[in-house]
Amino acid sequence: MSHQNTTEEKRETAILVGVDYVTHNQTGLSLDDSLDELEMLADTAGIDVAGNLCQKLDSPNPRTYLGTGKVEELKVLAEELGAGVVIFDDELSPRHQRELEKELGREIKVIDRTALILDIFAQHASTREGMLQVEMAQLQYRLPRLTRAWTHLARQSGGAAGRSGSVGGVGLRGPGEQQLEVDRREIKSKINKLKDALEKVREHRSRHRDLRRKTNIPVVALVGYTNAGKSTLLNRLTDASIYVADQLFATLDPTTRQLQLPSGQEVLLTDTVGFIQKLPTQLIAAFRATLEEISEADLLMHIVDISHANAEAQRLSVLETLNEIGAVSIPVLTVYNKIDLLDAVELTDLKQHHQPGSLYISAKNGQGVEELLTAISTEILKGFTRVDALVPYDQGQLISMFHEKGKVESVVHLEKGIRIKGLLPTQIVSYFKRYLK
Ligand code: GTP
Repeated sequence: MSHQNTTEEKRETAILVGVDYVTHNQTGLSLDDSLDELEMLADTAGIDVAGNLCQKLDSPNPRTYLGTGKVEELKVLAEELGAGVVIFDDELSPRHQRELEKELGREIKVIDRTALILDIFAQHASTREGMLQVEMAQLQYRLPRLTRAWTHLARQSGGAAGRSGSVGGVGLRGPGEQQLEVDRREIKSKINKLKDALEKVREHRSRHRDLRRKTNIPVVALVGYTNAGKSTLLNRLTDASIYVADQLFATLDPTTRQLQLPSGQEVLLTDTVGFIQKLPTQLIAAFRATLEEISEADLLMHIVDISHANAEAQRLSVLETLNEIGAVSIPVLTVYNKIDLLDAVELTDLKQHHQPGSLYISAKNGQGVEELLTAISTEILKGFTRVDALVPYDQGQLISMFHEKGKVESVVHLEKGIRIKGLLPTQIVSYFKRYLK
């Protein structure tokens, strides 16, 4: 099946569907805001939104997610607006998906936020690891849902999904059970092959990371909600040319650049994938290795778009994801970006509600960037003590400890022992007490 000639196709039209039930209030994002975000996701994926449909429910209907009357309403609305796709804001279970497809008929595709995000990731993955990770996440998501076409998604993503040819074609043929079973087996074997391929890429990455660690340059990772301005900041700080777009998830694969701080200290700056509310679990799992880069950083710069109406909810959702990937113990500098979009009064007002020590910048025009660099220097050196020690040869474990936990600046082998100089986390300096110069 060829996907080549489909990229020029006209955009699809969708209706967004949101259900307002108790858990929405726990995420800090109202249903309206969540649907606005979903609309932006749809736009990023190349889909136009013709309308919304909402329902208040205590809990989702076990069969069709929405109440029966609402499903009928959705069908009529889709026909009226000429929408070929309905996108649910929450993840649908395989059963919901099946039943909804049955009720709405073959003309209307049913997808959810997760599938949409997976699709966007597939479009944006550019490194081999990124593509493998997305393809695996997509296949894992599809396996229990293998009932009919994922034509839109399969076509859209020339990358990961587009390559799983049989998956894209399944629904078009209206598969019988036997065909589905064949496809399921095929997907499972594909997942296993992807696992092996990923393992190889990861070994390579981990060797690379070990090498980087040996250079002892501290790593600063940029984290933040999608569209917060991470790439713009990395570009400003390092003259890197990273794709910047007013789109969600423009950056998917981590980019690392070296940066010299005004103090002379070198750091490695890593841009990471943008976070989002309800990041699909398949993606967190698939991207664990990439996200682990974050948990190995010495410092996190958390970029928050201060001009966004939901800046605080976005900040909290990033912190939640950091928690999930075990990165909570790393010091975080909170950096409010896009201050050029606020006037002085608004900015002062907002600052009053923020943690002391937060920084305010415009990655676009450079305001506040000098202060940011100074704050990075201070933070990197915080908790470290400069150490100069002569360690006897029989205390080799201390030298290893220095290499592992500290930043070694020089090592000289002398007659009485190893003279080692550098920065050591203050709490372990006592191990070296007897040998300090
Ligand atoms: P993801 O790739 O989705 O994670 O986004 P990102 O955090 O890397 O954001 P990116 O740098 O791509 O910027 C997103 C949008 O915000 C772009 O349109 C930028 O031009 C804009 N932007 C970034 N920084 C600023 C800023 O300081 N001021 C203003 N006005 N716009 C900014």
